[in-house]
Amino acid sequence: MTHTTTIALVTGANKGIGHAIAAALAERGMTVLVGARDIERRNAAVRKLRASGGDVHGITLDVTSADTIAGAAEEIATRYGRLDVLVNNAGITGDERQIPGVGADVPAEVRRVFETNVFGLVAVTEAMLPLLLRSPAGRVVNVSGRGGSLTAMATPDGEFADLPPLLGYPASKAAVNAVTTQYAKHLRRNGILVNAVCPGHTATEGNGFTGDRTARQAAPIAVRMATLGPDGPTGAFVDENGPIPW
Ligand SMILES: NC(=O)c1ccc[n+]([C@@H]2O[C@H](COP(=O)([O-])OP(=O)(O)OC[C@H]3O[C@@H](n4cnc5c(N)ncnc54)[C@H](OP(=O)(O)O)[C@@H]3O)[C@@H](O)[C@H]2O)c1
Repeated sequence: MTHTTTIALVTGANKGIGHAIAAALAERGMTVLVGARDIERRNAAVRKLRASGGDVHGITLDVTSADTIAGAAEEIATRYGRLDVLVNNAGITGDERQIPGVGADVPAEVRRVFETNVFGLVAVTEAMLPLLLRSPAGRVVNVSGRGGSLTAMATPDGEFADLPPLLGYPASKAAVNAVTTQYAKHLRRNGILVNAVCPGHTATEGNGFTGDRTARQAAPIAVRMATLGPDGPTGAFVDENGPIPW
């Protein structure tokens, strides 16, 4: 059966910004696959999104688990035969064990953050590549953040001056940005556009609800990059106001 709607997968879509992106893509008429590692949370999110009328389906996906990633790719291949939009949103902030000098756990915490934010993103993207290549206009959106801006981080009295130095999260998002440029380079000739976005400082569980905007307000930049026309940018790092310094 050929599916005429746009098929979108959002990782970490059971809550927070990913959930809001899934809702916004469903509102635009896409068939949205809610990637989540926990079945109960996944089903609850799907129920909520369906209540608003969306064509939404759950898909079990832990971005640190090769088995669930392979299973998700197989399920999407069987059900739809292709993937049009991949939103790599799943991410963790990590905790205080990533502060330089706090002790022996620092490398493990940095590794844990990279495992989800970087290696998980790469593993999911690799698994979905064959499906994206079967799309007439594949779009990949990597949810990064201003913390991934080396320019911002290297400015002593800049926007992050009041935060403690962190070895995991900012470096993981800088790596997401770097990976984004390389996927963009790899996929340019296939018409697949790959971009990194900053959703802004958003109140979610990921930051103890300290953000100054709602997840719903954070979603539009991801939606914009997921729905780019053929002449849209690729390999960019943007927020709602335009390009962010690397
Ligand atoms: N909030 C901000 O101010 C802000 C700013 C810039 C960038 N971001 C980025 O935005 C993205 C979403 O964050 P958020 O603020 O919405 O945080 P959140 O509310 O904590 O949501 C994170 C989502 O990622 C999922 N997740 C974590 N590890 C996973 C894994 N191994 N496999 C699959 N899913 C996993 C979580 O699932 P569970 O429910 O199972 O934990 C949850 O659905 C992240 O990449 C974050 O770095 C956020």
